[in-house]
Amino acid sequence: MMRDKILDFLKKKENYVSGEELSHHFKISRQALWKHIQELKEAGYEILAVPHLGYKLVSIPDRLFSAEISRGLNTKVIGKKIYYFESVSSTMDIAVKLGMEGSPDGTLVISETQTKGRGRLGRSWLSPKYKGVYLSLILRPKILPAQAPIITLLAAVSICEAIKRITGLEAKIKWPNDILMYQKKLGGILTELNAETDELRFAVIGLGLNVNNDKKALLTSATSLKEQKKENINRLDLLQEILRRIEANYLLFQGKGPQPIIEQWREYNITLGRRVKVISHKELREGEAIDIDIDGGLLLRQDSGLTEKIMAGDVAHCR
Ligand code: BTN
Repeated sequence: MMRDKILDFLKKKENYVSGEELSHHFKISRQALWKHIQELKEAGYEILAVPHLGYKLVSIPDRLFSAEISRGLNTKVIGKKIYYFESVSSTMDIAVKLGMEGSPDGTLVISETQTKGRGRLGRSWLSPKYKGVYLSLILRPKILPAQAPIITLLAAVSICEAIKRITGLEAKIKWPNDILMYQKKLGGILTELNAETDELRFAVIGLGLNVNNDKKALLTSATSLKEQKKENINRLDLLQEILRRIEANYLLFQGKGPQPIIEQWREYNITLGRRVKVISHKELREGEAIDIDIDGGLLLRQDSGLTEKIMAGDVAHCR
């Protein structure tokens, strides 16, 4: 898009660029140029326009625009196609629809807020505008539906890696995929499958992360990166790194299978080795979380000595 090209040009210049130079470079009229600049300003880019000097980009808005996400992303699959929204019901709804229409592997749906953000087990996900990262990814791995939970673990690991790289903070994973910091919830992952018994058509991975939420706007059980780091975090940098990590791990998984992902997940998890209570399919079980299986299931050793594998549920860590 011409608008994005002009923006890129201004980004590379530290000083004023004359209108003449811009219109000459892009072979457009001064009037057309002025219109593009107005559009950029409306989108939140701060651009100074001074007679005889020209235009100068002063600041870029705190928005996750597709053109900003793509710039310097350098991925081959993840986020090659991006759908950006100011507001949606849930990015899951849009991604599932796009998936059914055949959108490619790695398609990203992102929104600045959600009116009906959803979490696991019928919960809702609060999505205050411009504060967090709310996204869904369409993935088309060549695996059986039963292996799909690995994709969720892969996403959880990728988020922890990205948080560490961008903020230096250490996030942890509670089985299966709650992202925690100091026992409080920082983010979560929701996976929805479109599958036949023996064929996974596609998976949609939904990821919600509290980034710049102020402490007072959070539930007591939740936290944000801002609360922990005591400063605003650049959402765009964080998002790009999450996408890069997901891509790296996705390629690793496709090349080497689930083992390396499981090993990384073990590094970040705080559930294994602990006594836990699990509510799964409305039944409560208690025991020691001894390991995670190759398909992502949690192995729980009950006091009777019986070890069971749990595929879905809610875990509470006992003291
Ligand atoms: C959980 O911990 O229960 C999972 C939360 C997942 C929230 C994300 S936000 C983006 C995507 N769209 C949704 O409606 N939910 C997921």
